[in-house]
Amino acid sequence: MGYIELKKELATGNRAIDLHHKHLVETFNSLLGTFRRGHSRAEIQAALDKLVDYATYHFNAEELWFTDLRFPEAAEHATEHQEFISRLSEIQKDFVENRPGLSLSLLTFLSRWLKTHLHGSDLKVAKFARQHPVNSKAA
Ligand SMILES: [Fe+2]
Ligand SMILES: [Fe+2]
Repeated sequence: MGYIELKKELATGNRAIDLHHKHLVETFNSLLGTFRRGHSRAEIQAALDKLVDYATYHFNAEELWFTDLRFPEAAEHATEHQEFISRLSEIQKDFVENRPGLSLSLLTFLSRWLKTHLHGSDLKVAKFARQHPVNSKAA
């Protein structure tokens, strides 16, 4: 399991969202790097906290975009976001309580989820936005 690479084909066409994705991937990669290089628990926890905070911020922003777009699958997409945040929060809580702490298998899960979401669900929104340019300008 490796670092996530944000490829060009993942661009959504929404500049702010694309910048968020870049930062989200960097935040995840930084957590993975911190874990792999065997940093202290405090550093791993700080990297984990950053990922939770940034993912929450990004998902909220993306869901506002759905409203602007009148994206019909907004509820299902937001559920995926919520599931990720819940899982991430559990991992964070377990880490703080040291049961069982962060493992490569948990990081693999997060990496797979992010890749699948960026390639699948987020690109679906991008496609909808391209097909409904009027909606994206509507109030
Ligand atoms: Fe999303
Ligand atoms: Fe996203």
